[in-house]
Amino acid sequence: MSYPFFSNHLYLYAMKKNMLFFRLFHGLLGSLILVSGLIFQSAHAQIDPYHYTISKRAVGTTGAVSSAHPLASQVGVEILKKGGNAFDAAIATQLALAVVYPNAGNIGGGGFLVAHTRQGKAIAIDYREKAPGSASRDMYLDAAGNPLLNLSQFGHLASGVPGTVAGLFASHAYAKLPFHELIAPAIALAEKGFVITASEARSLNGNKASFVKYNTVQPVFVKTDSWKEGDTLVQKELAATLKRIQDNGKKGFYEGETAELIVAEMKRGGGKISLNDLKSYEAAIRQPVVFDYKGHTVIGMPMPSSGGLLMQQMMKMIENRNISAMGFHSPEAVQLMVEVERRAYADRAEFMGDQDFVKVPVKTLSGDAYLKSRMNDFIPGKATPSSQIKPGNVNPESEETTHLSVADAEGNIVSVTTTLNGGYGSKTVVGGAGFFLNNEMDDFSVKPGVANMYGAIGKEANAIAPGKRMLSSMTPTLVLKNKKPWLVVGTPGGTTIPTSVFQTLVNIIEFNQSAQDAVNNPKFHHQWLPDQVMVENDFPKEVQKKLSSMGYELVNRGQIGRTEVIRLEWQGRKIKSIEAIADKRGDDHAAAY
Ligand code: DON
Repeated sequence: MSYPFFSNHLYLYAMKKNMLFFRLFHGLLGSLILVSGLIFQSAHAQIDPYHYTISKRAVGTTGAVSSAHPLASQVGVEILKKGGNAFDAAIATQLALAVVYPNAGNIGGGGFLVAHTRQGKAIAIDYREKAPGSASRDMYLDAAGNPLLNLSQFGHLASGVPGTVAGLFASHAYAKLPFHELIAPAIALAEKGFVITASEARSLNGNKASFVKYNTVQPVFVKTDSWKEGDTLVQKELAATLKRIQDNGKKGFYEGETAELIVAEMKRGGGKISLNDLKSYEAAIRQPVVFDYKGHTVIGMPMPSSGGLLMQQMMKMIENRNISAMGFHSPEAVQLMVEVERRAYADRAEFMGDQDFVKVPVKTLSGDAYLKSRMNDFIPGKATPSSQIKPGNVNPESEETTHLSVADAEGNIVSVTTTLNGGYGSKTVVGGAGFFLNNEMDDFSVKPGVANMYGAIGKEANAIAPGKRMLSSMTPTLVLKNKKPWLVVGTPGGTTIPTSVFQTLVNIIEFNQSAQDAVNNPKFHHQWLPDQVMVENDFPKEVQKKLSSMGYELVNRGQIGRTEVIRLEWQGRKIKSIEAIADKRGDDHAAAY
């Protein structure tokens, strides 16, 4: 944009002076710009960051991406069209989300990837943040032992060592295109800017005071007047950070200038992440959770996410109870699911944490006999009270995580949930580097029995230790039917994540719902403590009444989940259709071709 301005002036000057050299130079420069412009256009043929619309359902036969933002889903599909596979698309979509969805898309956070390759291999990649090397068990307690949740939730001390960039490079082992091509669209979006939606404008305005409070260098997200729908957000410093990753790979983030900027930011704000913490961060390849549910193979994330194990526990506790006969949203079915959720979450609080540090009795917790015995005290029509431990304050306002589901023509399916934890994480942007850092340290149990920002409590298994990963609820999930890829599912929502994914699968498998209905139908949630059934605004009132009469306390929780689903249909060994669904609850966008 600045070139034609400069060029015209130069041209006029040359005309005036009749200087042949300048006129030739202008011509040459003009053709160069034209060619590079065309290349940019062809790489991003369909993407116009200044005009875009939201689509909630898309059906194709070749590939699909569903994510929290239209531009990110479009980037993913463009990468598939360029010959990338689902891993390429997942990487490019995550990087685009780090630009266009700064609430949760990130390079300063962490995530989990669960995939099933066309060769039939199930994969789990763990790029969860780690506690810094100088972190300690009681770092969020005052001298009297009282929790200092402000420190675990906001500002510099709340951040774990980011894992996302390491995770992207770990998943690149399964991709086809060079990394520099996958990161190019994100760089262009950060450099040239994109137009923000109404909800993004609202969210940036709503967080302005925190951005001012928790930053040592004023970030681009703070504007003197208010953000409006249609404003363009340009992020030059983020573009430069992404270019360092493009040029130097993983080291472009974990070493050199970016690492130094992170550590300088930590020093200015009293945080703990060191150069050594960054340099030594590695993503981990894990053994996914795999279990059978009525002939379907469910593939999920193992520790340090509780997601896969909670799904296994909940699905197995309902498997033999003929829930489909009870009917969708019947008080009987909802009560059964609530009681199953309560029992699984009680186990989460007691036993679950990073298995690199603590022994989690996964075999027992997922065993048939154990899960059967867990339901011995279940009484249909009557609430089982949770034990008396101080319930936490759930703060739905400040949540943000994001999920993307991807499928390609070869039959690779990829499910990724990634997060900064709260909306815009710690609210601290790395000065000079342009990205938010996470507040994931709050996912540790800062003290036994003290609730985190999602009201979840934990014990020894999830206590803070240097280098340990905090327990997560993120539940990127895949389902195979007749051994073929069938569903790709996941959602944000803190502790409501496993229950949202659970309900989405039960809606499809047991209640025969379309993927879109399964996603959009009102959800409910129980997490043992607090002993409440949380329901969405539009959850049927008559069912709520019935549940109250059974002894349940019901509370309204605005929105639960922003679930993205891809559903594949097969004709023999060929893909018949790939349907992408984006949740009605946000700007989420489904793209397919
Ligand atoms: O890992 C976890 O369980 C949380 N940090 C996820 C946070 C989240 O989903 C917020 N989203 N709405």
